[in-house]
Amino acid sequence: MSDGPILIFDSGVGGLTVLREARVLMPDRRFVFVADDAGFPYGDWEEDALTRRLVELFGRLIAAHGPIACVIACNTASTLALDALRAAYPQMLFVGTVPAIKPAAERTRSGLVSVLATPGTVRRQYTQDLIDQWATRCRVKLVGSVALAALAERYMRGGFVDEEAVLTEIAPCFVEEDGRRTDIVVLACTHYPFLVNRMRKMAPWPVDWLDPAEAIARQAERVVSTLGTRSISGDFDPAFFTGGEPDFATRRIVHGFGLRTR
Ligand code: DGL
Repeated sequence: MSDGPILIFDSGVGGLTVLREARVLMPDRRFVFVADDAGFPYGDWEEDALTRRLVELFGRLIAAHGPIACVIACNTASTLALDALRAAYPQMLFVGTVPAIKPAAERTRSGLVSVLATPGTVRRQYTQDLIDQWATRCRVKLVGSVALAALAERYMRGGFVDEEAVLTEIAPCFVEEDGRRTDIVVLACTHYPFLVNRMRKMAPWPVDWLDPAEAIARQAERVVSTLGTRSISGDFDPAFFTGGEPDFATRRIVHGFGLRTR
């Protein structure tokens, strides 16, 4: 029996969207939040270099925090390195975050689905395999955004959103074909739910914006349900940033998510 925390990991603040849901489902679990802000954004990384970085970083994180499970709250990292992490640390339970293509394919009425993600996630074979496996009866458009994750980071720290820039990034998601229109956009980057109200406001027509955070949290709950003791003391869980002590605005944000940075 172990009473270690659940480690929630992302390249930045996007992982907080998953932590929020995980806390709702598992109020009696301890968490540790880790953001690899020194490596942000992951979307641009060369694949081998990012895999090596993640495998090496998780060696240190597992040793330092003794988690009962690690939730990779990042599509860009999960679609690339989940297998490598499981192979490197076979005793550890990893829960990944991958584009919600299967639920989107089940829900769409028009058959036109778009997946909004980082350029890395869009390029991955893993993402193509999900489409081939679950969405052969739909037309899935992959839309890689270079700017949205950074816009979300900026919004979370300063409250500012360039709405025209949001429109530019989401516009390719909206497809009209033979009288049908895209009706679901999969938010395949954990940063994006923070901008969803602006996306809704700027969208050419209403769509269902699929945020998988709750489903990931449920999967994490299933995976750890038989593990560890559940007593916690204190209201705050620790947060760590690979770039060192975060700035004032970031500290305020993470405090709002029940995290302390020191
Ligand atoms: N939050 C990450 C994801 O879910 C990516 C952000 C980035 O590092 O570009 O893909």
